Amino acid sequence: KRVKYKEEIAEKGGFSHFMLKEIYDIPSALINSYTSLMEKYLTLASMIVYGAKNVYVIGNGTSLHAGLISSYYFSEIGLNINVVSAAEFPYYALDNISTGSVIIAISQSGETTDVIRSVKIAKQRGAVILGITNSVGSRLALESNVYLPITAGPEMAVPATKTFTSTIVVLKTLATYTALHSGKKDKKDIEELRNNIEELSKQVSIKLPEMEKQAENIAEKIEKESLYVSSSGINYPIALEGALKFKEASMTHAEGMQLGELLHGPIVLTNKGYPIILIKPAEEQTEDLYNKIVKSIKDRGSMIITISNEGDITTVNTTRDLTPISNIIPLQLLAYKLGVKKGLPIDTPPGLVKAVII
Ligand code: AGP
Repeated sequence: KRVKYKEEIAEKGGFSHFMLKEIYDIPSALINSYTSLMEKYLTLASMIVYGAKNVYVIGNGTSLHAGLISSYYFSEIGLNINVVSAAEFPYYALDNISTGSVIIAISQSGETTDVIRSVKIAKQRGAVILGITNSVGSRLALESNVYLPITAGPEMAVPATKTFTSTIVVLKTLATYTALHSGKKDKKDIEELRNNIEELSKQVSIKLPEMEKQAENIAEKIEKESLYVSSSGINYPIALEGALKFKEASMTHAEGMQLGELLHGPIVLTNKGYPIILIKPAEEQTEDLYNKIVKSIKDRGSMIITISNEGDITTVNTTRDLTPISNIIPLQLLAYKLGVKKGLPIDTPPGLVKAVII
């Protein structure tokens, strides 16, 4: 039994769970993902997106959250895209999908039934499929007209971590290449993005042990079985993704919401000691709202946990567009530590599988 236990630990690179190992893989995965994207496929994919009649981004769970982040990247370069859950896509306005439509389908496993079903429907209607997947031989890769690899390496834990951060790299790179066609960005911006990813990767690997310790200390203090995660701007999808991680890894009820929305109802459930995790937004114009909200929930006696450069869990500094990567890491760690405290099977949450095939 002892030998088997040791083997298991070795498989996990010395970590007690795959989830923690995979969080520690993030710095190298970010670099691998960026460097594995081939210029010719990025150019082709970005031309397809730029020339599209309409663009839909589909995915489920964590992949859907990555898709939501991409809507900020694309809208800034003048492209309005629709982000829809792959589970909902078949009931969406399918009349709009025809020749000239482009579907950006995101799936880490490349096997998720909702995604494959939606891709098939869209193909029948004449849409071009741009797949983004971590699995080269997957059904999504086969069904796609063009696909971009995530290249995060195998992910064993059911709660996705490194594939999420790497998918953001792929989407940000795709959006930057797309902007080259409209003249909104130039080759210098591509160079800058590469430097920013490299710097982020370096800083994250330095800071990970400190963030892990901070997360462990905070997890000790969380006593409620329910919590909120909130932010605004490009980190709003991070609140949704953080909440998903709490459900999967720590079996804690968690709700992610937009910062301003906290005041439109959810606040009534907060009481003394109720944990509210606030990810400081990256956009300056939200500062006033952020300070006001911090004050009003402090007045209610909630337990505020801040994620920022000077927060209760300190993140690393990066450009606004890459903050979703730096900010999700503390949430992944906190969800993980809470799961450890509760003695849960973090890598294999009960009733959940890595690829949902139905
Ligand atoms: C992520 O932590 C979850 N396990 C889940 O939401 C997942 O992202 C979803 O099922 C989609 O999986 P896919 O990316 O492999 O399609």
